[in-house]
Amino acid sequence: MKVVAINGSPNMGEGNTALILDPFLEGMREVGAEVELFYTKKLKINPCQGELNCWLKTPGKCFQKDDMQMLLPKITGADVLVLATPVYVDGVTGPMKNLLDRIIPLAQPFFELRDGHCRHPARPGSKDSQLVLVSNCGFWETDNFDPLLIHMEAICKNMGNKFAGALLRPHGPALKVMMEMGMPVNDIFDAAKEAGRQLVKDGKMSPETLKGVSRELLPLQMYVGIVNQKFRESLELLKKK
Ligand SMILES: Cc1cc2nc3c(=O)[nH]c(=O)nc-3n(C[C@H](O)[C@H](O)[C@H](O)COP(=O)(O)O)c2cc1C
Repeated sequence: MKVVAINGSPNMGEGNTALILDPFLEGMREVGAEVELFYTKKLKINPCQGELNCWLKTPGKCFQKDDMQMLLPKITGADVLVLATPVYVDGVTGPMKNLLDRIIPLAQPFFELRDGHCRHPARPGSKDSQLVLVSNCGFWETDNFDPLLIHMEAICKNMGNKFAGALLRPHGPALKVMMEMGMPVNDIFDAAKEAGRQLVKDGKMSPETLKGVSRELLPLQMYVGIVNQKFRESLELLKKK
């Protein structure tokens, strides 16, 4: 099984997104998947220019010479595409959105009706791949991922992929702090790894395992109190400098 994972966090391997993504990919590798990981920060991906050359003048090919030339064939050849992003203003990060806009060469310009809804037909030769979302956010509640989930499901419907589910880590920044304090959070990494193994072995991830990734780390009021305290301290420190 070929897996292409893309981490859209500017914090790359040091970020809160990577805390969940990395064990997930490790679980996949453990059971034989061939995994390639890319960071949008290291890639040069220009925004789509909207001139539709990839649909008309040069079908399937964008005129822009950047890292999308390397990445698009990898995405097409993958059995599983993992999109990892922190929530930024209720969506994906900017570089991840640029990347997503640049996948339209994979679709044809025509409209067809699928389940009575307008969609684009895929280009011949495209695989029935699965898409997984890995995300974390600063706010405490799991519903902060709702816009992202709707976005991913819509992409799958339009591009003809199967949405395999999401590894979501609300109040994500708390995880690193709790690790540094030596608090028991390994069950979360174990659940992420297990989700990876399940996806490769069974073709799906169990809802219980995914719930384990998202489990509450600390109560809402306590989290809000700690976050505000930390921000006050940082502001005070900066004032003194
Ligand atoms: C520009 C920006 C926008 C953000 N927007 C949201 C948001 O809409 N909702 C939320 O819960 N967290 C938001 N966050 C918090 C991040 O999702 C959170 O800090 C996350 O842990 C960062 O992940 P990373 O360490 O992998 O970069 C935002 C952070 C930044 C820098």
